[in-house]
Amino acid sequence: MANMIIKMEHINKTYDGSYYVLNDLSFCAQEGQLVIIKGKSGYGKSTLLNILGLLDVFNSGLYNLNGLVINPRNYNKYSNLRSKYIGFIFQAYHLIDSISIQDNILLPYLYSNEQIDSEVIDRMHYILEDFNLIDLRRKKVSLLSGGEKQRVAIARAIIKNPPIIIADEPTGNLDDDNSITIMKHLKKMTENKTTIILVTHDMKLLEYGDVTYSLQGGKLTQI
Ligand SMILES: Nc1ncnc2c1ncn2[C@@H]1O[C@H](COP(=O)(O)OP(=O)(O)O)[C@@H](O)[C@H]1O
Ligand SMILES: [Mg+2]
Repeated sequence: MANMIIKMEHINKTYDGSYYVLNDLSFCAQEGQLVIIKGKSGYGKSTLLNILGLLDVFNSGLYNLNGLVINPRNYNKYSNLRSKYIGFIFQAYHLIDSISIQDNILLPYLYSNEQIDSEVIDRMHYILEDFNLIDLRRKKVSLLSGGEKQRVAIARAIIKNPPIIIADEPTGNLDDDNSITIMKHLKKMTENKTTIILVTHDMKLLEYGDVTYSLQGGKLTQI
């Protein structure tokens, strides 16, 4: 049986102490699943992803990440866990404009003080080829289009082969061809047991999901 890598039970999240953005939300994801979450603007999709990615705390409930119980009071201790487990594709790209595409993609190795060996460089080239960025690799990010930046942000999130990828509208600025390239690449990663949680408005992407949820009223409902 596939391993349950993410398990949330009765998660509540409020920012102001009265309105619950997430309200008794329960959710599980198996290793190697591509989970798609859709929902209207303001319904709490980014909030849920930030909690899943250990970037924000929840108020109550249970979050179990690959067997580890996540304690909202221990977030300062989770930076290693985050860098080892999670690749985050943000809605805003969070790239460094003044350095090149390839230096941006290699940032996760610099942050975690890990060596960049020939295997890493080979994997980066493979991703750059697949994402149609290979000829641009030495170009500064400030000179790129929105769609190019988005592909660089995705490349950076997946370079370390994290077991979990969390993606907030990853194809929002891409044309159909590039969206399909990205979705095929992500789908292929699930064959090697990568788990992907992806938020999108784009109905064309639903076919790539193993399971689709709708976020509404602070809860996820499978559709
Ligand atoms: N850091 C924050 N502080 C206060 N309120 C927030 C914060 N982030 C999000 N919210 C509120 O929580 C709700 C859900 O926001 P968000 O998770 O960004 O939704 P979505 O990603 O689905 O558009 C919104 O009402 C938003 O205003
Ligand atoms: Mg959002």
